[in-house]
Amino acid sequence: MQTLEDLTREAITLANGHSVPAQAAPLSDSVLEVSRQMMICNGCRYCEGFCAVFPAMTRRLEFGASDIHYLANLCHNCGACLHACQYAPPHEFMINVPRAMAEVRKDTYTAYAWPSRFGVLYKNNGLWIAIALAIGLTLFLQMTANFLNGANALTLDLSNFYSIYPHNMLVSIFLPIFAFVMLSLSLGVKSFLTDIQQATGAQGASPVAVANASHDALKLKYLDGGHGEGCNNEDDAFSKLRKYFHHLTFYGFMLCLAATSVATLYHYIFGWQAPYVWTSLPKLLGISGGLSLSAGCVGLFVLNMRRHELHGDPTQKQMDIGFIFLLFLTSTTGLLLASSHESSSMPLLLSLHLGAVMALFLTLPYGKFAHGIFRLAALIRFETEKRLPSNIGLSGE
Ligand code: HEM
Ligand code: HEM
Ligand code: SF4
Ligand code: SF4
Repeated sequence: MQTLEDLTREAITLANGHSVPAQAAPLSDSVLEVSRQMMICNGCRYCEGFCAVFPAMTRRLEFGASDIHYLANLCHNCGACLHACQYAPPHEFMINVPRAMAEVRKDTYTAYAWPSRFGVLYKNNGLWIAIALAIGLTLFLQMTANFLNGANALTLDLSNFYSIYPHNMLVSIFLPIFAFVMLSLSLGVKSFLTDIQQATGAQGASPVAVANASHDALKLKYLDGGHGEGCNNEDDAFSKLRKYFHHLTFYGFMLCLAATSVATLYHYIFGWQAPYVWTSLPKLLGISGGLSLSAGCVGLFVLNMRRHELHGDPTQKQMDIGFIFLLFLTSTTGLLLASSHESSSMPLLLSLHLGAVMALFLTLPYGKFAHGIFRLAALIRFETEKRLPSNIGLSGE
C-alpha cells in the first residue's frame, strides 16, 4: 500500500518534473512537515500572489531547516492558502500551510529564547501567563495592603498614586524588568537572524529593505490575502476585520508606551509630577491608547473564537488568548485607575493595574509578543533576499 509520503513524492514528481531530493540532515517533525508541503506547493503554485511566503518559496528547490524557519515567520497566518487549496484536508495530501507554519514558528520562538532554558515557557504558555499574573497581583495587592495597614497610611492621598508607590519605587521595580525584556527579546531575535541569514544570502539589510519591511509590517500588508480584500477567518469569505482590530491593538499599545515615555520625560526633564490634567499629553495619549487597545483586544478575541478549526495551530490558542487577555486587563485597569481619582477604589485599582503590567512584562519575552519581532526580522530578510539573484539550489541548512 502507498504511504502518504509515497503519494506526496509522486505528486511532486508529476508537478515539478523532477524527483524529490533526500534530506541532507535530520530535521524536526514540524520542519519536515513544512518541507513536505512546500515541495507540493512549489509544483502547484496556485497561491503564488497571496503573500511573501510563496515568492520566497519559488526561489528554492530544497528546504533546509533555516529556509523553513524563515518561511514560517514570513507567514502571517491569513488563511488564504488554506481556504483556496484543493489539497487541503480531507484531501489525502493534507496540505494546511498556515497550521504547519504556525507549528514551526512556535519551535523557532522556543529554540531562540534567551536564556535558552526559558524557551520551555512557550510550550505551556497559558500556565506561564497564569503564574505571572498570580505573581504580579499577589505582589502589588500585598504591598498595598501592607501600606494601608501600616503607620504610613496616614500619608495616603487618594488623588495621588505616588502616595502609595513613590515614583522611585516604581522605577526600581519596573526598570530592571523592562531592561531584561529588551535584552532577552533582542538576543532571541539576533540568534534567529543569524540562523536565517544563511538561507537568505549573506548580505546585511540595506536601509531600503528595512524601510520596506517596516512599512509592510506596520500596514500588515500580508493580512490582505494578496488581492487587498483581507484574510479568511471562519470560512471562505474575505474580511479586513482582523487587520483593523490588530491595528487598534498594535497602535493602542504604542500610544500607551508613548504616554509612559512622555510622562517620564515630564518627570525627569521638567520636574512635572503626575497625576496630570485630562488635557495633558500623557493623559491624551494614555486614554486614546487604552480605549484603542481594549477595543482591539475584544475584536481579536471574538475573531479568534470564530476562527475555522483547521486554521492555525490549536495548541497555541492559549498563548494567543492569554496575550489578548493580558493586554485587555492592562488597558482596562489603567483606564479605570485614571478615572478613580479621589475615590476609595484607587488603591485597589492601582494594585490591579501594576500587577497586570508586571504580568505583561514578565510574559513579553516568552509569549505571543515574539511574533511581531520575528515577523519583522523575516520581512527584512525577504526584502533583502528579493534584491539578490535567485538562490535556487543554494538552500541553507
Ligand atoms: C512601567 C509600567 C507602568 C506603570 C508604573 C503604570 C502606571 C500607571 C498609572 C499610575 C496610571 C494612572 C495615571 C493617571 O491616573 O494619571 C496609569 C494609567 C494607565 N495605564 Fe499604566 N502603567 C504602566 C504601564 C502600562 C502599560 C504597559 C499599559 C498598556 C499596555 C498601560 C496602560 C495604561 C492606561 C490605558 C492608563 C489610563 C490612561 C492614562 O491615565 O494614561 N500602562 N498607569
Ligand atoms: C511588527 C509588528 C507586528 C506584526 C507584523 C504583527 C503581525 C501579526 C499577525 C500577522 C497576526 C496574526 C497571525 C498570528 O496570530 O500570529 C498577529 C496576531 C496578533 N498580534 Fe500582532 N503583529 C505585530 C505586533 C504586535 C504588537 C506590538 C501587539 C500588541 C502588543 C500585537 C498583538 C497581537 C495579538 C493580540 C494577536 C493575536 C490575534 C489572534 O489571535 O488572532 N501584535 N500579529
Ligand atoms: S496551498 Fe495548495 S493551492 Fe496553494 S500552492 Fe500550496 S498546494 Fe497549491
Ligand atoms: S496563511 Fe496566508 S500568509 Fe501564510 S502562507 Fe498562507 S497565504 Fe501566506
